[in-house]
Amino acid sequence: MRFLLLLLLANLLGLSGAQNQALMDYLERRLLAIEDRISTWHEQSNRYASDLREFKQQMVALLENLDKDKDTLRADLSGVSTRVERVEREMDYLETQNGAQPCVDVDDKLVEQDVTVVKERNKAKYAKLTDCRDMISSIKAMKILKRVGGPKGMWTKDVGSSSAKVYIFNGTSKDTLYEFNSIRDFTSSAGLSRGRSIGLPYPWGGTGHAIYNGYAYYIKKGKEFQVIKYDLRNGSVVDSAVFPAQDQVPVYSLTPETYIDLAADEEGLWAMYATRENERNICLAKMDAGTLDIEQTWDTPCPRENAEAAFVICGTVYVVYNTKLPSRSRVQCVFDVSDMVTTDDAPLVYFPKRYGAHSSLKYNPLEQLIYAWDDGYQILYKLVMKKKLEL
Ligand SMILES: *[C@@H]1O[C@H](CO)[C@@H](O)[C@H](O)[C@H]1NC(C)=O
Ligand SMILES: *[C@@H]1O[C@H](CO)[C@@H](O)[C@H](O)[C@H]1NC(C)=O
Repeated sequence: MRFLLLLLLANLLGLSGAQNQALMDYLERRLLAIEDRISTWHEQSNRYASDLREFKQQMVALLENLDKDKDTLRADLSGVSTRVERVEREMDYLETQNGAQPCVDVDDKLVEQDVTVVKERNKAKYAKLTDCRDMISSIKAMKILKRVGGPKGMWTKDVGSSSAKVYIFNGTSKDTLYEFNSIRDFTSSAGLSRGRSIGLPYPWGGTGHAIYNGYAYYIKKGKEFQVIKYDLRNGSVVDSAVFPAQDQVPVYSLTPETYIDLAADEEGLWAMYATRENERNICLAKMDAGTLDIEQTWDTPCPRENAEAAFVICGTVYVVYNTKLPSRSRVQCVFDVSDMVTTDDAPLVYFPKRYGAHSSLKYNPLEQLIYAWDDGYQILYKLVMKKKLEL
């Protein structure tokens, strides 16, 4: 075929026999060379294709291995987390058995402070507190004082005065408040017998009350949420106001009796609450302690879910979380109205494990103590503070 083609080509060009032969030889060689080259290309491309196939197979195998590795890693991780959970449970158990706190000193002097000493030290502290830049650094000590009353309740000192009196709200819907002249009176009393009982004009609802400057601010039990301001000196209702939020829901999912949680700090009176409109998160309001007006409100980024209580220090809300089956309480969300502290730069503060969940946590700025109610136990937590800007 090729030969015929070449012959034809030579004839067309009208060449002589010898010339013909030479040309044909030449063309023949060229064609052979071209054929050679084509077959080399062919071979090469075949080799490339098979290399590519091999590579693809290797990749597939690698990917499969990776997948397997991922699965083992996942299995390993879940194993580790189960182990951590078990260790936590064992630690919790040991703590309930021994009562000793591995990381927290139990401070026996916490209660034995003389009232006069407290007063003098506090004068200096008050001057310092006027610029109010304190934030929590850690919990230094705890003291379990007593177990009086039901699983849920609230106790506090009068915040905003240097009075040594303490007040007990036993339960989430009663109308008799107990006043003790000092913590020592309270701890040495059989039950609540040594306290002065104060019959309130309306029963309270929840655990979100505050004692501030000689007044009890409490949430009246009922469909409508009303804040009652009650004068503890002469026993009269000075003022009351319907809390102006619509469609309220419990503010902490683990303490469902509490719809409004009042808190007093260095800057006055605050209210934590939640509404159906912003159902996931806790809202904050600054209240005028004189008129009960709401001065300002904020939507905090702190979820209600798994929250048990909260407290306010220097205009910063610390929300404390737990789990349905009570484990360790911890501050896991922080909201600062002055924007100086965020959850990211606040330390993750764990409470030493005690009994159940906290139904209330009330901060006292003069002593830097938190008055906690945990399954009927009255507990004090001593805080270590630092300055907000020293981050
Ligand atoms: C406190 O309240 C609980 C129920 O909430 C009740 O059983 C208990 O007797 C009360 N304690 C005192 C000392 O009144
Ligand atoms: C109680 O004291 C307040 C001032 O805090 C006063 O306005 C009120 O009239 C007094 N009430 C009675 C019944 O004395």
